[in-house]
Amino acid sequence: MEYENPHERRCGYLHLYGVSQACALIAHKRNLNVELATMAGMLHDLHSYQTMNAENHTEFEAELA
Ligand SMILES: [Fe+2]
Repeated sequence: MEYENPHERRCGYLHLYGVSQACALIAHKRNLNVELATMAGMLHDLHSYQTMNAENHTEFEAELA
């Protein structure tokens, strides 16, 4: 399933890039693996986008990613 509305799809992409950059910044400041943090940020909503349902998504996102 995917967003049919191009504006909503674009907002989803922007959200992922924003979260990914925030993860990279936090990882850098904490001297952690920036590349891994960036990937985690990009994948953090994978289950929500796949199912188009964000309810209880935190328990499913990490496993799917
Ligand atoms: Fe998100």
